[in-house]
Amino acid sequence: MSSPQAKLAFLSVIALSLAAYTPALAQDPGHLPNVMILATGGTIAGSGANSTTTVGYTAAKVGVDALIDAVPEIKKVANVKGEQVFQIACESMTNDHWLKLAKRVNALLAQSDVDGIVITHGTDTLEETAYFLDLTVKSNKPVVMVGAMRPATAISADGPINIYNAVLLAGSKDAVGKGVMIAMNDEISAARDVTKTNTSLTSTFRTSELGLLGYMQDNAPHFYRQSLRKHTTESEFDVSNLDKLPDVDIIYGYANINPIALDAFVAHGDKGIVFASVGDGSVGAGIKPSLIETRKKGVIVVRSSRVGNGIVARNGEANDDELDFVVSDTLNSQKARILLMLALTKTTDTKAIQKMFYTY
Ligand code: SIN
Repeated sequence: MSSPQAKLAFLSVIALSLAAYTPALAQDPGHLPNVMILATGGTIAGSGANSTTTVGYTAAKVGVDALIDAVPEIKKVANVKGEQVFQIACESMTNDHWLKLAKRVNALLAQSDVDGIVITHGTDTLEETAYFLDLTVKSNKPVVMVGAMRPATAISADGPINIYNAVLLAGSKDAVGKGVMIAMNDEISAARDVTKTNTSLTSTFRTSELGLLGYMQDNAPHFYRQSLRKHTTESEFDVSNLDKLPDVDIIYGYANINPIALDAFVAHGDKGIVFASVGDGSVGAGIKPSLIETRKKGVIVVRSSRVGNGIVARNGEANDDELDFVVSDTLNSQKARILLMLALTKTTDTKAIQKMFYTY
């Protein structure tokens, strides 16, 4: 191999062989993991008027079989089966949907012929469903939530690569015991800490300060971090016999705040209120008397923050010991609502509930 042309030809052959080699695709088809895909709707199943429609499309149109057929590569990395659990845009997700989904996931994961689960979902409340499952799934097997920011009909739709990565992750032994994860945009995120941060970019899911868990690259997950908070098999919450969750709502903090929304929720009979307040969960003069009255009526009050990062300090901006309030730690308000609902299925003791907020 003396001539430069011969050397170049040899190197090209090596480069092409390396490019064709993908660890997961090299798996023995007889030993592929069994991954169940549960479809719930969302943009990943959305349909637009034409290929350049990336907003103003209709979510939840494409069925699970079409989603799977659109990505034939997944059949090379897993034995997949699909099930249409719901077909909704996820802004319409309810507590009842969550209970049904958690029960189905637990039933499937109890089967020896299911190694992992992928859940396709709209992105708007994806982090909430993920956290609910993180606290209620009773298995170490991987559960991976996935969505898309562009409808299935768009140029450069992100759904197919996201589904492919989600199936790889759900079938990976490295993903066992990591809690419920979100696989989007080549990133792996933890259900507890990730949030949607942009209305339309494909990079919308971020865990800005606590950090993502890892990357999906070259047909495999690459993990660098793990959430230390309890989840799945270590969680004390059991929804197997529940058909309803306690009413808990969120009120928002802002300048010139008034108590009208809070008082209406309490009059409705809410069992808990999450106050997504300003700063470190500060309690403005316009709402403080109503919050104190709310707690006196037996309703649990959780102080959280609209800021997006950081710990809400207990006995910081309010005397929580004296007012008998709970703080949300680093949970955003939509996830604090989920933990409070589950907490209320077990206790109304504020000390026990506060401990849960430091545990999960
Ligand atoms: C939805 O959340 O169901 C629609 C929007 C999306 O999936 O991004």
